[in-house]
Amino acid sequence: MEVAVRLDRTGGLTGQIYRQLRDAVLDGRLRRDEALPSSRELAEQLKVSRNTVMTAYERLVAEGYLTGRAGAGTFVSALSLTGPAAPQPPSGPLLPRAVWPTMPVPADFGTAPEFDFRVGAPDARLFPHVAWRRLLTNQFRPSALGTGLPVEPAGHLGLRTAIAHHLRRARTSEAHPQDVLVTCGAQQALDLIGRVLLEPGDTAAIEEPGYAPPRLVWETQGIRVAGVPVDEHGLIVDALPANARLVYVTPSHQYPTGVALSLRRRMELLAWAQRNDAAIVEDDYDSEFRYTEQQLEPLHSLDRSGRVLYVGSFSKVLLPTLRLGFLLHPPSLRHALHAAKFLTDWHTSLPIQAAMAEFVEQGMFAQHLRRVRRVYRQRHERIMAALAGPLSPYLAAVPSAAGLHLSARVRPGAADGLDRARAAGVGVTTFPEIAAAPPDPPSIVFGYGLIDVGRIDEGLAVLQRHLDAG
Ligand SMILES: Cc1ncc(COP(=O)(O)O)c(C=O)c1O
Repeated sequence: MEVAVRLDRTGGLTGQIYRQLRDAVLDGRLRRDEALPSSRELAEQLKVSRNTVMTAYERLVAEGYLTGRAGAGTFVSALSLTGPAAPQPPSGPLLPRAVWPTMPVPADFGTAPEFDFRVGAPDARLFPHVAWRRLLTNQFRPSALGTGLPVEPAGHLGLRTAIAHHLRRARTSEAHPQDVLVTCGAQQALDLIGRVLLEPGDTAAIEEPGYAPPRLVWETQGIRVAGVPVDEHGLIVDALPANARLVYVTPSHQYPTGVALSLRRRMELLAWAQRNDAAIVEDDYDSEFRYTEQQLEPLHSLDRSGRVLYVGSFSKVLLPTLRLGFLLHPPSLRHALHAAKFLTDWHTSLPIQAAMAEFVEQGMFAQHLRRVRRVYRQRHERIMAALAGPLSPYLAAVPSAAGLHLSARVRPGAADGLDRARAAGVGVTTFPEIAAAPPDPPSIVFGYGLIDVGRIDEGLAVLQRHLDAG
C-alpha cells in the first residue's frame, strides 16, 4: 500500500516518519491488520536510507502501534494492544505543554523475540534472590524502619559510604560520601543535573547516536539538545558546539556503538570543558563489565577542575527495577542537588538503600560482580568470535570490550539477509530511535544480557543462514 508520508526539513527524518505513521494509526487512516510497505519500499518512496525507515518501524513496533509478523511483514496492531501508552492527540480544557504529547511512554519491554538479543537489561536469573530476600526482610523489622519520618535527601549514609569506597577501589581516586547522592536510577541523576545546572534555553550536547533518555528529559526542561557525532574514538570533541553548557558522554562504553572514548579525546574533552566553562556528565552505566585488562581512567579521575559529574547505576549490575543509581558531584553543587532531590521525591526508598548498603559492605556485591562478569564475558566472546569469523563478510564488529551489548556495521549487500533473519526471530536491533541523522552505514546492536550462550549460538547460526542466502 501507499503510505502518505511527507518529509520536510523541520526535524529528524526518522522522527517525522514515526510521527506521521503513528498519527495515521491513531486517527484510523491506517486500520488494524493493514500491511505497511516493506522498509525498502518506503525508503525508496521517500528517498531516504532504509535504516531511517527501519528505525521508525522499530519504535512503532516497540510502542505497540505496529506488529512484525515473521516472514509476512509489518502490520497495524489492534489499538487496544497499545493500552494507556498510546499518546492520544490531547483534547479538553487542560492541555499539557507542547513538549509532552509526543514524549514516548513505553508500555513494557515488548515481546521477547525467539533469539533475544535486545539491549538494555541484565539477566534477571543471575540476580542474587536468596540474599536479597534476607536483606529486605531485615529492613522491614520495626527497629530498622525507625520512625518512618523522611530521611536525608542525599540518601542512606551507609550506602553512600559503600558507594564511595567501591568507586575509590574500582574507578576513581576521589570519592567522598558527602559528594555521593543516591538517586532513583541514573535517570533521576540526569533529571536533577538538568534542573540544577541549566537554564531553559541553554544548550546541552549529547552523543549521536546516543542514549535517548537524557535528550528527552532535558528537552522537557526547556533545554536545547545538540547531537554531536561519534567515531571509533568516541565523541568528536572538535564537533562540540561552543555554546554547550554541558556535555553528556558514555566514555567507558559508548551507547550504543560500544567504543571507548580514547585517552586523547578524554583529555581534549576536559580541556574543552575548561575553555568553554562547561560541565561534563560521565554516565558510567555498565563499566563493571570489562573484558580486558586495559582500563581507561574515568573522566572523573582525570579531571583537575571539578567539572565532571559522575553518574552510576545498579540497573545493569543487579536489576533496573530496583531503581537505584547515584551521582558523584562536585561539592559546589551539593546544596542545590540535595534541595532538588528533596523537592522531587524527598529521598530514594530507604529499605532498598539499606539493603544495598549491606549487600555491598558484606562483600556480596563484589562476589556477585565476579560471578556475572564471567557469564557475560562468555556471551561477549561468543558473539565477537562469530563476528570475526563466519559473519565477517556481512557484519563489521565495532571494537568493544565492556558492557552488555556490542554493535556491528552492516556491510553493503547484507541488509536483505539481515531483515529476513530478524523476521525469523533473531532479535538484534538497529540503533534505537535517537539520532537526527541515522548512522551511515547502518548498524545493529547485539544485546547479551538476556540470552544464554546456547541460544546465542543457535541465533547466530540462523542469522548466518539468512545472510549466506543473500
Ligand atoms: C547509557 C545508559 N545509561 C544509564 C542506564 C541506566 O539507567 P537507569 O539507572 O535509570 O536504569 C542505561 C540503561 O539502560 C543506559 O543504557
